[in-house]
Amino acid sequence: MGRRVSQTRSAIRWEQHRRAFEKYLGGLRFTEEPRLEGLEKAMRYSMLAGGKRVRPTLCMEVAWVCGAEPVRVLPSAAAIELIHTYSLIHDDLPAMDDDDFRRGRPTAHKEFGEATAILAGDAFFGEALTLITVHQEGSCEQVLEVVRELADSTGVNGMVGGQIMDMDQTGVGAEVDLETLYMIHKYKTGALIKSSARIGAILAGAGEDEQAAVSEYASELGLCFQIVDDVLNATSTRDTLGKSAGSDAEQGKATFVGAYGLEGARREADKVLERALAALGRLDGDTSGLRDLAFFVRNRES
Ligand code: IPE
Ligand code: IPE
Ligand code: MG
Ligand code: MG
Repeated sequence: MGRRVSQTRSAIRWEQHRRAFEKYLGGLRFTEEPRLEGLEKAMRYSMLAGGKRVRPTLCMEVAWVCGAEPVRVLPSAAAIELIHTYSLIHDDLPAMDDDDFRRGRPTAHKEFGEATAILAGDAFFGEALTLITVHQEGSCEQVLEVVRELADSTGVNGMVGGQIMDMDQTGVGAEVDLETLYMIHKYKTGALIKSSARIGAILAGAGEDEQAAVSEYASELGLCFQIVDDVLNATSTRDTLGKSAGSDAEQGKATFVGAYGLEGARREADKVLERALAALGRLDGDTSGLRDLAFFVRNRES
């Protein structure tokens, strides 16, 4: 099969994932209690603002590569996106990055106040667990494994751990030591991206070798994702990104651009991309979609 044909097929598949996912997410309701309408409104405001949906569609594509019907993993894919959305709401709070703009809209705390924003984020975590434990098809072992993945990748040794290291290093800027910098990026962003892919593999019943290759690919993909986020913060605009630009340098954040310079950060992203592609070589099946995603993550403009 020619490269162009496989690229077209993979683009069609990504579009199918995205559409199925948006439909599923748009259909989610969290309460019928009128007193809680305000909370639900704030949650839906942030989750339906139109993110790129990289994590849930990655989960669906990995499920497909490993032989499962992508729509079967929708409850877990949605749970991942809810947790990601919670992390964004909290990341933007005045006590953290203090950002006013996200996904092309005023941030949740600007629109609904800090208390509601904090609680909307908290509620997403509980609703994510409900989606998995009540609605995800699969064996008990698989469902438990999915919960374990999410708990691990979002807890102290995952996303939240990365966020606290990021906060601790704010103001340090270019002086950050490289080991800490890599850790921040792997924890705050890489961990959830890695578990998104692993969850697709787990629910598809992938074997150990397949899971290991998926993990390696997605762990490099996650790192590449955050390096590019640093580059875009330094080079792009608020209109293109749908979130603030230039803020990392203003706040003295520990970033790859600060540590390596702009060109150096881009070179690091290229190296990490190569490692992600190399890991795909160890995966059987049609990995053209995952390859295309890796290039998208490296070359994205928002
Ligand atoms: C932004 O993530 C925060 C990071 C972890 C870098 P995304 O760039 O995936 O944000 P959305 O979901 O598209 O808004
Ligand atoms: C966000 O990191 C990471 C999480 C939300 C877990 P950043 O603070 O660097 O990302 P943006 O630029 O605000 O999206
Ligand atoms: Mg942050
Ligand atoms: Mg931020």
